[in-house]
Amino acid sequence: MKIFGKYPSLRLRRNRKSEWSRRLVEENNLTVSDLILPIFVTEGKNKVEKIKSMPGVMKYSVDKIDSIINKASKLDIPLVAVFPNTPSRKKNSFGSEALNENNIVCRTIRKIKKNNPNIGVMADVALDPYTNHGHDGILRKKEIMNDETIKILSEQAILQAEMGCDVIAPSDMMDGRIGVIRKTLDKKNFKNVQILSYAAKYASNFYGPFRDAIGSKQKSSINKKTYQMDYKNSNEALREVALDIKEGADFVMIKPGLPYLDIVKSVKQNFKIPVFVYQVSGEYSMIINSVNKGILNKDAAIESLISFKRSGAAAIVTYFALDIAKKISN
Ligand code: PBG
Repeated sequence: MKIFGKYPSLRLRRNRKSEWSRRLVEENNLTVSDLILPIFVTEGKNKVEKIKSMPGVMKYSVDKIDSIINKASKLDIPLVAVFPNTPSRKKNSFGSEALNENNIVCRTIRKIKKNNPNIGVMADVALDPYTNHGHDGILRKKEIMNDETIKILSEQAILQAEMGCDVIAPSDMMDGRIGVIRKTLDKKNFKNVQILSYAAKYASNFYGPFRDAIGSKQKSSINKKTYQMDYKNSNEALREVALDIKEGADFVMIKPGLPYLDIVKSVKQNFKIPVFVYQVSGEYSMIINSVNKGILNKDAAIESLISFKRSGAAAIVTYFALDIAKKISN
């Protein structure tokens, strides 16, 4: 890049001299339209429970979700993402609860679409909330089976679409799942159901609090490296994204967020499609716990979100969504 001008006739501090001037030269900003709110739902009645490692985030029983959905809707948050905390007695090695039309995700989707039809609903397609081993796919002799898992995933996608889910989000990193799910949805006449592919999802150490929240945490820490990506790789992310676009993804997700800003930027530059980013539970926990302890100023949250916008993200899944939406709509 060519640099024009030089000190002392050029002083870049001049444009920073006052609040109004700084506002004029802002290159990026965050609006409520950029935010996706994750919601944890749990079995039972009349429950609003804390999640220990994620202060400020709650788990709701289905009868209690209206409170949070109404808030999101009032703040004009465009999309909520539903994640289930399945009781262990309903888990098995195939994750068959995923296909129960009365599981908590299905009940939640129906309820949201009935009471708040204007808000978008997204739900993961993956088996980890339902398997007793915590893996995203079917496990056979220590191997996560790809093609067998995809069959179940496409049934799960159809079921969620039937419940009224607007955005199906395959999050398990099996090969070929986007194409199969798109075809199956189209065959069942769900042509307008969108697919958000978790296209580049890394085998990350930042998912710990989430696994705690959905109860998929195992006694010894779980290793998903045979399907989620190696965090040493970036070209591989471009190949994953390219394949998913070809197979019919409407948007792609990069996950986690902050440690992967380079990936967000290069995916956006290479493919020019809507790129979403997931600021995951571990990122949230780091920031919120530091803020609560007085180590960081609370604007650290918004700073982290703007970094996603700078790198090219169209929208952000973040546990800060409600707080930030409140803050920026005032
Ligand atoms: C699983 C899934 C995970 C998250 C969203 N969907 C975790 C995992 O892969 O174990 C993580 C989200 C977070 O950490 O906030 N399909």
